[in-house]
Amino acid sequence: MDKEINSPFRYAGGKFYARKLITEHIPNHNYYIEPFAGGASIFFAKSRVSGNWLNDIDKDLINCLVIIRDYPNELIKSLSGEQATKERHAYYKNEYKPKTKLDRATRWFYVNRTSYSGIMNMQNCYWGYGDKYSMRPENWPRNILRTSAKLQGVKLTSLDFEKVIEEAPKNSFLFIDPPYFNADQEKFYAYSFKKDDHFRLSKILKKYKDKFKFLLTYDDSQEIRDLYDWANAMHKKQWNYTINRTDDQKNGTNKKGARYKGHELFIVNYNSEKQAPLFDSQSTLYKVLEEA
Ligand SMILES: C[S@@+](CC[C@H](N)C(=O)[O-])C[C@H]1O[C@@H](n2cnc3c(N)ncnc32)[C@H](O)[C@@H]1O
Repeated sequence: MDKEINSPFRYAGGKFYARKLITEHIPNHNYYIEPFAGGASIFFAKSRVSGNWLNDIDKDLINCLVIIRDYPNELIKSLSGEQATKERHAYYKNEYKPKTKLDRATRWFYVNRTSYSGIMNMQNCYWGYGDKYSMRPENWPRNILRTSAKLQGVKLTSLDFEKVIEEAPKNSFLFIDPPYFNADQEKFYAYSFKKDDHFRLSKILKKYKDKFKFLLTYDDSQEIRDLYDWANAMHKKQWNYTINRTDDQKNGTNKKGARYKGHELFIVNYNSEKQAPLFDSQSTLYKVLEEA
């Protein structure tokens, strides 16, 4: 068993607050894949298995993970002495000209750790940092080192999801977390995801539905329910989360962070009620499977 840690990144649409609910739902597996990794909060929250593959179309994000995996000390050195300030955030975002992959990772890491909500689409990526709510620069090295340890042996690619799904080994398990169907996701990510991409995803998953197991998370809508009417089960889930608004700290409001509820559909192509051996007890299993 290796360490369960938090994602090294703040990430828009990240599954940090749903990680317990999701990991409890995952069947036993030897090969784990996230075709839409983002901050990969589920990968970091579980133990690694024999094969692990993280993919995201965002090349800067994957480059940063590759540098963390292979050159953690160089990245730490490159970030050393940095302070979290609005000026440095603007500098890295608008002026800094990276020449190497290490430079690109330095920029991505700095901007991400000092961003509001982890929105990494540069047009909508705003400064957002608070000593109380964000990871302080003096803790970045420790974070980079523990992330690097967890990423050893992990395959990292920046491909379109179809290629990953096509190449997924037989009997692997895929945690699939695409951009939402009905939300304005264009502003969150560096690469847009169109309706046609959602249809492509459904089509390819249907094609390979007997080759591997998957858990797909989506915003609930009739279109998604129709697109996946062939799946084994759909569970409506909800969880609590809080947002510590870094911009509210200054005027002293919202000290504890606002509370929200996440709602999503979990779509699976396996009979989730038959996954009992993975769980400590049947009661846990049935609690997890309850419709929220
Ligand atoms: C909802 S986020 C994933 C969040 C992640 N589960 C987490 O916990 O942080 C969706 C991700 O899909 C990626 N993406 C968008 N289009 C893609 C494509 N065609 N192929 C692969 N990844 C894509 C985005 O860059 C984004 O990181």
